[in-house]
Amino acid sequence: MNQTSFTPRVFSGIKPSGGLTLGNYLGAIKRFVGMQGQMETIYCVVDMHAITVWQDPKELANMTREVAAGYLAAGLDPSQSILFNQSQVAAHAELAWIFNCVARVGWMNRMTQFKDKAGSNAEKVSLGLYAYPALMAADILIYQATHVPVGEDQKQHVELTRDIAAKFNHDFKTDFFPLTEPVIEGPAMRIMNLRDGTKKMSKSGESDMERINMTDDADKIAKKFKKAKTDPEPLPETVEGLKDRPEARNLVEIYAALNDMTPEAVIAEYPGAGWGTFKPALADLAVAKLAPISEEMARFMADPAEIDRILGEGAEKARAIANPILRDTYDIVGLLRSDATR
Ligand code: TYM
Repeated sequence: MNQTSFTPRVFSGIKPSGGLTLGNYLGAIKRFVGMQGQMETIYCVVDMHAITVWQDPKELANMTREVAAGYLAAGLDPSQSILFNQSQVAAHAELAWIFNCVARVGWMNRMTQFKDKAGSNAEKVSLGLYAYPALMAADILIYQATHVPVGEDQKQHVELTRDIAAKFNHDFKTDFFPLTEPVIEGPAMRIMNLRDGTKKMSKSGESDMERINMTDDADKIAKKFKKAKTDPEPLPETVEGLKDRPEARNLVEIYAALNDMTPEAVIAEYPGAGWGTFKPALADLAVAKLAPISEEMARFMADPAEIDRILGEGAEKARAIANPILRDTYDIVGLLRSDATR
């Protein structure tokens, strides 16, 4: 098999650890929905990744449903995309073990996200947190996925996935795994914290004012944008004027991504505008775009059995793709199966 013979297939995932943020929506979910219908799309709630740090068991199940509700509310259609939670497809974990034996410790040591998360506590974090990128590679390659839409922060992990695929192919003299392309495009690849434009907006920041949660109501969204940190200058006349103005750039990029525009077009609409004009316009736009999604999320969350049913059906479809790829991988590696038809 050469690299051109893989069926174009999209895979991506979101961790159910803490609620969904505007960063997850603009950097991931909105784009996932946009790729539906263009090629085969497989989207996952990666619950096994979440447990690399402690998760309360009841809360984990609830958050898994909430992320699924976010996908569905934003327009993911289970008849067009496969939607499931990772732990229901055991092949992810099985392939991850093989990849743990392919990836090198030196590669893991270079992962900036591990360094950030472990901080000065590297001896005390779980082994799973360290091995996390090998599981992520397995998530992608168990479907031989060719395209992975992610935000900027996941780029290094997708590059590691390519390294693992290349080493596996080289070691076993095969072309079995594709060299997956990260798809990182558009204005929302790195949505920043609303209180500090040098930090990423994340689920786990200390203050709720730093982020927009997908479950925030209209008042909260408006308040958070109005209180967002900015510099004292008005918006520039051209996008070049956003250079070295991280907070201003972030608000312009959020506006652009919410309204399917380029940052250039936003600046053309608000050249030289003061924050007293731009922030309320951004807040109104965000409420108009996000409120219908959060209402729809709440509707899905009111019927957890239906979410579980959708995830179960998705898992069945996912297993139908993953299991034959796992069997072939076992054969390539020489892991003996007594019943070769399994
Ligand atoms: P996670 O759960 O942290 O984030 C899910 C997706 O949201 C994007 N994202 C952002 N994009 C722009 N601005 C932000 N502030 C922002 N915050 C989050 C992330 O880039 C990501 O695309 N390791 C992954 C989950 C994962 C995965 C995979 C992804 C596991 N296996 C296989 C792709 C393919 C993670 O922790 O994402």
